Amino acid sequence: MAGVNLGIDFGGSSIKAGLVDVERGRLGETISVPTPVPSTPHAVVEVIRGIDARLPGAAAVGFGFPSVVKQGKACTAANIDAAWIGADVGALLTEALGRRATFLNDADAAGLAEMRFGAGRDVPGTVLVLTFGTGIGSAPFIDGKLLPNTEFGHLEMRGGSAELWASARVRTELSLDWPAWGARVSEYLAHMERLFWPDLMILCGGISEHFADFAPFLKARAPIRPAALGAAAGIIGAALAAA
Ligand code: BGC
Repeated sequence: MAGVNLGIDFGGSSIKAGLVDVERGRLGETISVPTPVPSTPHAVVEVIRGIDARLPGAAAVGFGFPSVVKQGKACTAANIDAAWIGADVGALLTEALGRRATFLNDADAAGLAEMRFGAGRDVPGTVLVLTFGTGIGSAPFIDGKLLPNTEFGHLEMRGGSAELWASARVRTELSLDWPAWGARVSEYLAHMERLFWPDLMILCGGISEHFADFAPFLKARAPIRPAALGAAAGIIGAALAAA
């Protein structure tokens, strides 16, 4: 199918995928499979092989991956099995699926989709896309151009990684209500604003679909928008990266 790629978003709790019309940014049927435990390369590639068989017809495959990606290799593994470090993920998937596969950082993928088709479309200046899930991912854009592989979820806050203070996982694990979690996110956003002075911040991840519940408790200088593509931003961005 011309212009249709398979986008895959590898998260700490689930692997989500769908066929994406990359010219229009439209996503068809999606599949979500729990992330295997442990999330070793072998186990995850098997899940992706299964997904690929259930969603046939893509020209290429894009894989949003929760790690720094340099020279075609995964470099970190904050929330996934350490066996991924050093892996040539693109080659691994290309071989397993018999089709060209591209991989990139998951937050970078969500950012690309939001800047092209979502809340950041045509927005100039400094736009900071942040994903809140198992960890916190970041993708800063300057006049629409991405600075890839930033890891702003690992800025130090309260003596540890910021993502251990304000991710969506922390909200669930500590049963924080919206005001309490909103206060933590605001503290994190204030930290980001002191350093980057963004013109706009876009909040992504499944939690963005609950934006109305926590938005009243967010404080920031810059405007804040939820992902217009919702939880699908990561899938759509991965498919775009493969185009
Ligand atoms: C990882 C990032 C990733 C983010 C969101 C962090 O723990 O280090 O690479 O983008 O989680 O999944």
